[in-house]
Amino acid sequence: MIKKKGTVYRLETPATTLVLKADTAQILYYGKKLVSADWCEALRSSPCRLFSEYGQGDFNEQSVLLVNADGGFSTNFVYSKSKILAEKPVLENLPSSYGESKTLELKYVDATKVALYLYYTVFEDTDAIAVSAKIVNGAKKEIHIKKLASVQAELTGRFEFITFNGAWARERRKNARAVCGGTFVNESRAGASSHAHNPFVMAKGEKGVFGFHLLYSGNHKESMTEYDGVTRVIAGINDFMFDWTLGAGEEFCAPEAAMCYAETEDALSRQMHAFAAEHVVRGKWKKRERPVLVNSWEGAYFDFNADSVVEMAKVSKDLGAELFVLDDGWFGRRNDDTSSLGDWSDNVEKLGCTLAELAERVRGCGLKFGIWIEPEMISEESELFRSRPAYAMRVPGRTPVRLRNQLALNMADEKVQNFVVRTVSDVISRCGASYVKWDYNRMLTDCFGKGVAAGEYFHRYMLGVYKVISKVVKRFPFVLFEGCAGGGARFDLGMMSYFPQIWTSDNTDARDRLQIQDGSSYGYPQSVMGAHVSASPNHQSGDSHPLETRFNVACGGLLGYELDVRKLSEKDKKTVAAQISFYKEHRKLLQFGNFYRLGDSFGGDYGGFISVSPDRGAAIAVIAAEKRTNVPPPRVAFKGLNPAYVYEVTARRQENYENNLSFTAGGDVLMCGELFFPDFYDDASARENSGCMYTRMFLIKKQKNL
Ligand code: DGJ
Repeated sequence: MIKKKGTVYRLETPATTLVLKADTAQILYYGKKLVSADWCEALRSSPCRLFSEYGQGDFNEQSVLLVNADGGFSTNFVYSKSKILAEKPVLENLPSSYGESKTLELKYVDATKVALYLYYTVFEDTDAIAVSAKIVNGAKKEIHIKKLASVQAELTGRFEFITFNGAWARERRKNARAVCGGTFVNESRAGASSHAHNPFVMAKGEKGVFGFHLLYSGNHKESMTEYDGVTRVIAGINDFMFDWTLGAGEEFCAPEAAMCYAETEDALSRQMHAFAAEHVVRGKWKKRERPVLVNSWEGAYFDFNADSVVEMAKVSKDLGAELFVLDDGWFGRRNDDTSSLGDWSDNVEKLGCTLAELAERVRGCGLKFGIWIEPEMISEESELFRSRPAYAMRVPGRTPVRLRNQLALNMADEKVQNFVVRTVSDVISRCGASYVKWDYNRMLTDCFGKGVAAGEYFHRYMLGVYKVISKVVKRFPFVLFEGCAGGGARFDLGMMSYFPQIWTSDNTDARDRLQIQDGSSYGYPQSVMGAHVSASPNHQSGDSHPLETRFNVACGGLLGYELDVRKLSEKDKKTVAAQISFYKEHRKLLQFGNFYRLGDSFGGDYGGFISVSPDRGAAIAVIAAEKRTNVPPPRVAFKGLNPAYVYEVTARRQENYENNLSFTAGGDVLMCGELFFPDFYDDASARENSGCMYTRMFLIKKQKNL
């Protein structure tokens, strides 16, 4: 809801209030819901502003930086008008949130007639406010945009800047640092949102936690600056090498960001989950239970043919899987990662048949067929490179940097975009894929496109990708798309606007995965996180974990198996079949329940998660802990239950535990932090593995009211 009193606007969600004064561009208040009606006067002297520019005595990190037509940097954006729009404006060619909501539009104009627009859309059901910015060049000459952030929020007080950082195979580890006397930055310059610095950040202070979440998959930058007791948070496209020429009469839209406030990190996470699931993920799969898949990658890598794939598919079907995904290696002459990207023709010699025939054989086993593709890339060893070398992204006269032996395509070029739409559409149509894994396995280094200004390249690349993806997704509305970028290098709300799920990380080691999923869960719901059970010892870590542990952890996301199912022992096959049948029975709750992190997965006594049904009548929890010599099992607290209910708690029957625990307790007892499971370390299979993580899964069901 948006209320107006003069030029003061009050943006209300059930739990938060944002008060803006349009004419002075002030944020009078943002935080916990205010109920009192006499709000404007008392808050008038707020030092917090909606945007910051150069040339008016502000020397901190700014949100808007231009080079004017006269060559100067100074702007002075003065209030022009404001209005409430009944519908959210469309962000042309950019990912965006959607849904019924009102939007506040604010307009400020500089003496040069360049206008700055700010948009605030209130999503009441999720306590989130989507923010975006636009520059319209009303001057007669071109200007340069050096920076246009999506959102600026100034908050009084001191804050911790919380970011999610890492690398390949250890994405999104939570880091916090106190922001004091300067600017602290979280940014990607890699051309993708990156493994290293996710575009979701939090500002945590005495009054609560503020979340800022960019809907963008390219170079981004989030900064927090503390100056004179005010903390300025800015999020948007990275201004690193950014220089956008805006002709007379043209406009430039910054990507959208979502911001929200909650008293605790837990509450903020659930707002972000709801926002992503309700207002970002779209299409047929939005609220649909996702299929249990078997993916060929870690089971076969490049070493397969149609017969071996069909053998794997048959076993997968017997185990209860619903979808078989043929990963990398089915096209061109691809037998390792040195060739063929771009040649999306069937490798008949290797498969022994066409892709369409293979897909039909897999479907004949009673499974849906899914396919892997990496459309934005090109191998120099490929027909495509030989015939269309200009499609590759390279700087003329320089030796390009190869990462994973490959170059990227110049996605800023319309010809390349059309080629990609054509080839991807053809692959999907000819094999009748029900699922597509869209991979992207290198960061960008040789950013260059003929006719594209260097300072525009990174963003034009992303605009090209979004254009292509939105066309393909529209053309195949029933196909389930899973985004991927060498694991989770484009795990962001930008991609999630098109792809309802994303491969979270290439690291499937249960202990590492628990942490990666835990870090990811601060900003993203479990319904977008691909999570697979893989072989033991794990191919990334070399560590071993019991099959039940690998399953319990994968239940924190969208379950799949990524191992050679033919090699499972008969005993393990039985275990997997029981796991899949359990998962199918409970996947609605696991995939779409309200998700809470339990304990502390980063070195606490225990970690884990619980997914609770909206009415709090049912939940599934996973507890994980590492055994240390002569240390008793942890004392555990569940979360999200109703303290006024009595629940029946049953441990899932795990192949590695003899004791099948079951008891009854009040919701308050289950959440009090004193739950103790004496047999927690009695795991039969774990005893054989040193340094093992022990896990148990609990089904929690309401029995009655207290
Ligand atoms: C990277 C992905 O993250 C993996 O899952 C797999 O698809 C490989 N690429 C294939 O090359």
